[in-house]
Amino acid sequence: MPSSWLQLSLRIDPAAFDAVSNFLIERGSPGVVIKKNEVQAYFVHSPEDVSIRRDVQRFLRGINKLYPHLHESRLLWKILKDRNWNNSWHRFFTPRKVGRAFWVTPPWKKSPRFQRRQVITIEPGMAFGTGTHATTRGCMEFIETVARSLNRTTFTALDIGTGSGILAIALAKLGARKVWAVDNDPVALKVARENLRCNGVEEKVQLSGTALRRIRKSFPVVVANLTAEAIMDLADALQKKVAPAGFLILSGILNPKAKEVIGSFSPDDFRVLKRRQEKEWATLLLQRK
Ligand SMILES: C[S@@+](CC[C@H](N)C(=O)[O-])C[C@H]1O[C@@H](n2cnc3c(N)ncnc32)[C@H](O)[C@@H]1O
Repeated sequence: MPSSWLQLSLRIDPAAFDAVSNFLIERGSPGVVIKKNEVQAYFVHSPEDVSIRRDVQRFLRGINKLYPHLHESRLLWKILKDRNWNNSWHRFFTPRKVGRAFWVTPPWKKSPRFQRRQVITIEPGMAFGTGTHATTRGCMEFIETVARSLNRTTFTALDIGTGSGILAIALAKLGARKVWAVDNDPVALKVARENLRCNGVEEKVQLSGTALRRIRKSFPVVVANLTAEAIMDLADALQKKVAPAGFLILSGILNPKAKEVIGSFSPDDFRVLKRRQEKEWATLLLQRK
């Protein structure tokens, strides 16, 4: 464990929490914590601090147009030499319910024992997908819907952009006999592997960095929590992966983009079953005809 950390505290418009915390995780922060009206992020203190500060400031300037109340003057950097840092960060992560089917809990918390809910253990902060983000939660709720409609019979599934592996784990826990989980980020794959092991589903989930176009099978359930742009780019390849009458769950879509994303899937082949909106994010459930 590193002995010192660069801590960023940022007071911002809560509407910008998701955008800012996603950026900080992608920039390499292993710990992003959202407090009342503040985002705190921790980075390992190193000579790279200078470029982290520069990138954060550039990012904040970039999103200033979207969130005009976000002022750089509310940004505070500190070097922490706190050996108990790990514990103080841990305090902010508690088990959370997602939909009606899941609890998502960090590994240092005792698994809550609640009937009818599956417990998913995720190490927070290392890769996208801790169960707190609206897009992850949207996908998990639709996984629950789909599993119910498949009557919990076994099925196979594909998770594109698995991140922490959370959706692949959710699928495995709700009846998938085999899940193909892919990500183009080697760090995410490493984190996902550990989370699969921790949840006892490593045998059920085939994890790889394989490109979508190289996957030849089709699946009764396909999940892709990416971005609107990435989904539209991959739309042709994605459609081919969904088996007849199969389900396609899409997220990472900003609300105003949802119509455009739907438009990239032929209405002759797909119908929209459900649309879920949380904050600025849309999640879609489509079914192949
Ligand atoms: C928003 S995260 C979603 C993580 C997790 N599935 C969830 O729902 O919380 C998107 C993930 O997709 C990966 N990704 C982005 N584009 C991809 C692509 N074309 N193929 C595979 N993975 C991709 C990123 O590396 C990242 O881990």
